[in-house]
This record gives sequence, C-alpha cells and structure tokens, in this order.
Amino acid sequence: MCGIIGYKGQRNAVEIALNGLKKLEYRGYDSWGISTVDEKGAHIFKKVGKIGSINLSDVKLPESSIALAHTRWATHGGVTEKNAHPHFSESKRFIVVHNGIVENYQQIKEQLKKEGYKFQTETDTEVIAQLLEKNSKENDIKNALQKTFLSLEGRNAIVVLDSKTKTLMGVRKGSPLVIGVNEKEYFIASDVPAFLDYTTDVIFLEDYEAGIINESLEFFNLKENKKITKKSEKITWTLEQAKKEPYAHFMLKEILEQPNTIRLATMQDEEELNSIANKIKNAYGSFLIGCGTAGYAALAGSYFFSKISRKHINFIVGSEFSSHQYFLTDKSLIIAISQSGETADTLEAVEVAKKKNSKVLGIVNVMGSSLMRYADYPLMTNAGPEICVCSTKAFTSQLSLLLLLAYAINNKLEDGKKLLLKTSEELKKLLDKNYLENIKKLAEKIIKENHQHIYVIGRSFNYSIALEAALKIKEVSYIHAEGFAAGELKHGVIALIEKGTPCIAIVANDEEKSAMISSATELKARGGFMIGIAPENNPVFNYWIKVPDLGNASPIVNVIPAQLLAYYLAVGLGHDPDKPRNLAKSVTVK
Ligand code: F6R
Repeated sequence: MCGIIGYKGQRNAVEIALNGLKKLEYRGYDSWGISTVDEKGAHIFKKVGKIGSINLSDVKLPESSIALAHTRWATHGGVTEKNAHPHFSESKRFIVVHNGIVENYQQIKEQLKKEGYKFQTETDTEVIAQLLEKNSKENDIKNALQKTFLSLEGRNAIVVLDSKTKTLMGVRKGSPLVIGVNEKEYFIASDVPAFLDYTTDVIFLEDYEAGIINESLEFFNLKENKKITKKSEKITWTLEQAKKEPYAHFMLKEILEQPNTIRLATMQDEEELNSIANKIKNAYGSFLIGCGTAGYAALAGSYFFSKISRKHINFIVGSEFSSHQYFLTDKSLIIAISQSGETADTLEAVEVAKKKNSKVLGIVNVMGSSLMRYADYPLMTNAGPEICVCSTKAFTSQLSLLLLLAYAINNKLEDGKKLLLKTSEELKKLLDKNYLENIKKLAEKIIKENHQHIYVIGRSFNYSIALEAALKIKEVSYIHAEGFAAGELKHGVIALIEKGTPCIAIVANDEEKSAMISSATELKARGGFMIGIAPENNPVFNYWIKVPDLGNASPIVNVIPAQLLAYYLAVGLGHDPDKPRNLAKSVTVK
C-alpha cells in the first residue's frame, strides 16, 4: 500500500529512486513520482500509471545525489498527477511522501486553512507537508518532525526531504520503513527489495523511531524524545530471489518455487517449534486470524488443529476480530498469520489482544516486519520475497507451518516434517512442462467459451482451498469465482449453475471423498462442467487435474493447480497477473 524510496549518496539518485520504485511497484501502482534537489532548488516529476516501462531519460529531473520517490495506491483523492506523491509544502522547502492514512487529516487541514495555508491536492499527505512547514518556523527540523508526527493519528510512515539542508528524515508508526546503509550512502524505503541491488545491511525502524540522514545517520525516538542508537543487520534475501527472470511473471515464478519453499518452511528450530506447540496446547480461548489469503490459511489451520491435534481454535478474519475481544484473557493465544507482517487489520487485532494481555504467535514471511516485532513468538515462513501482488508461495508456507505445529502438539513433529518433505519432492516431480500445458489448455477453453462465473467446492481441510482457489481466480483474471463448502451447495448455491458453468471440485482421498463426489455429481446434473483436482480420476470429472495423494498435506498440493489456472486465465485474458487492478501487496490501511 504505497512504496517509498529515498536515497542520499554519491550515485545518480534519480536513477536509484526509479529502480527502487520499480521494485516497490507491487505496493501500489496507480501513479508515481520522484523528487530531487539541486543548486536551483527542489524539483518533482509525477505521472499517472505504472512505472514498469519508464526509462531514466523519461524522467525529466536534473541529476542529483539526493532523491525521494513514491509509488501510490490511492486512498484520499483520486488517481491524478496532482494527488500523486511527493508533495511540496507551501514554500517548497519540504517534500513529503507517505504510506498510511492520517485519520485526523480533516481537522488538521481545517486548522491550517484558517491560518492561511493553501492546499493544492485532496490528499491527507499534503497536510503533513504543510504542518511540517508550520512547525519548522519555531523548531529545528528534528523537533518540527517530532511535533508534526505526534499530531498525526493512524498508521503512518513518512519520509521528508528538506530541500534547504538536503536532509532525508523518515519516521513510522504501524507502516514499515527500513534504512539501508553502505559506505557513504543511505537508502530509506518501505521494503528491502527497493535497495537490494546496492546493500544488504539494513536497520528496521520501530514505531516512533526516526532516522535522520545527512552526512551521517542519526536515530531518535520521537515519542520518548531521545536520541537512540541502532545496529544494522544483514538481510538474507538475495537479489536473485527478488528477480522474475527467466519467468514471464513473478506469479509463475513464485508458484513454481513452492517445492522449495515448502521445504524451507520446515527448516525451523525444533526446540522452539515444540515449545510454541506447547503454548498452543495449553492456551485457553485461542484465535487464528489473518486477512484474505492469510485468512484462508488461518481457516485451514483451525481444521488442522481440530482434526490432527484435537485442539479447538477459533478462526476469525482480522478485520472482524475486535468484536470477539471479550473472550480474551491472559491465557489466550492469538495466532496471527501474515505474509507482509504489515496488514493493518491483522496488526489491529494483535494490538487488541495485547491490550488484554493475551499472547501472540506471529506466522510471518517478511523479516523485520511489524508483526514479527509485535509477536511474543514470531515464526518465519522462510518463503523469500513474494513480489507478485497475489499470494501463492507464502500461502503454502503458512499451511506448512500450521501443519507442523498441529503435528508438534501431538509430539509428532518428525512425522509432520517427513510429510512436508515428501510433499516438496512430489511437487518437484509434478510441476513439469506437460502439467502446466494441461492447465493452460483448460484456461484457454474457459476463455474461449467466455465464461463469466466459476465455482469451486471443497470440504474439511479443502474447504479453505476452495475459497482460496476462487480468490486467486477472481483477483487476477477478473472472472467472477466463488468458493463454497460443498455441503452448502444444496442450500442455495446450486441455483447458480447453468449448462457449461465451470465448477472445480477439490477431492482429497480422505473421509470426505464420497460426499465430495456426490456434490460434484449434483453440479454435473445441473449442467456444470466438472473440473476435478484429485489424486484419482472419476467418471464425474469432465476435466481431471492430477495431484499427488499426500494425506494431511492435501490442501498444500491442491491449491497449486488452482493458482496455475488463475495465472493462465489472467495471461490469456491479457491481464498482468503480478499487478491486478485496484490491489496492492501490503494493505497497511483499514
Ligand atoms: C491475495 C492476497 C491478499 C493477502 C492479504 C493479507 O492473493 O495476497 O488477500 O493475503 O491482503 O496480506 P498479508 O498476508 O500480507 O497479511
């Protein structure tokens, strides 16, 4: 949800900002802008649209050693050049970029207007720039930043370029900011891939911490009003992992990485995992929470814990969690799942739980993210950077960790690990050219027949996979898709089925198999074109996609053909699967 990159050093800052924005585009891609300062003053260049094909020569800015840039996912104010960041303060001294929502921006704006400040845009960000300008009249820039930031409500990360002193200042609460350091150069960004080309030495800012970059780098805690020291850490993500080549899209690359990422998810400290499993076992009144795809992983987790470990854990989506806080005590455990670790709805649920003194287990993919920091027990999914906006490999890594924990609760961690390693091996064998071709052919048929709806059914462990499969299809192909618990069909859904409607049945070799086949038969009887994702073919299937039979790991393997189908539908319909319309990777606003 908006990407920020700032640079100060000896290289061509505009070029670094442009490259950084291209790496951050997954965070928002409706418009972008770059600012810089030279001896003639401050300059801003903005454009509506994606940045992918923009060359340095297209960016009409002078060369400079300092720059601040932003790629936007609009919240306040339409998608226009004017509303694109960066934003100037009135005198053009300050240039501001922002990720988040200033919840009290209207009050601040009204007050500033009364004092004579004029506004050029509809954004909440411009309010920050003007307030900073006002506060700088009576304070040095650090104190002006402090006064400004402490007046803002909501989850915000802001970076300011002070054109007068050529200083970059960044501060965060709730939304991420990370500083990259190299000899004589500094980067400040929303996420590490923005500067991974140049350095792997990073410093993550915590809430209310500000980094001030000039000739040197200084840190302050603005809430506690004191200077602090922070150490850099080495990031283990590699440049190679954040590159899509030789694949056409990150989505395909990340889908095909899953045999490896599932294996990486098993690489956990066993003692720690067992100890966390014990915490789950002994907790009372626990909740699995997450949003979107991570929410579906949480839902699958509730089935794993129920059927494998006989442990009742409630599932609730992050944005609905606060209504359930009344059941939390200091014995409760929240299992919060998030790829980015920055999803506002998930983080708010965590905050609610912490206020009740409940403990938080965070299952998270991004190192240094807010969830990793807020969690009492952080567990990393180890999937490496997930760049495609829609989540694929992070989902199967989340499922893998939940499965491991479910086995560990039964003191059977080794069995869980063996199952996942076998899954990884089987998937490696499965995902060859012919397999992809088979799914591509199915996508071509659906496109050729111009279907507007696709329905997906599953039961038990694979109920959440039906929901996730439908989410993948709709978010990248824009074909309407819905997932259902197969048993719900006859309670209304079946009215939607017409002759030829593509219906996907996810049929595992488990105790639900015959009920699943009955539901598929009911759909076929109403004209549904039955696509079976299953280890074995069945006469009810019009089209069969084979998956290996992996027992309790069935949700992990079953989602992969659905991810591939979504991918080929998107590409076949001419959409960019990496950047679906209206979406952003990291949803840091409510
Ligand atoms: C769908 C998708 C989203 C995310 C959701 C939560 O493909 O990616 O539904 O799963 O926005 O994001 P994280 O996992 O970062 O909390």
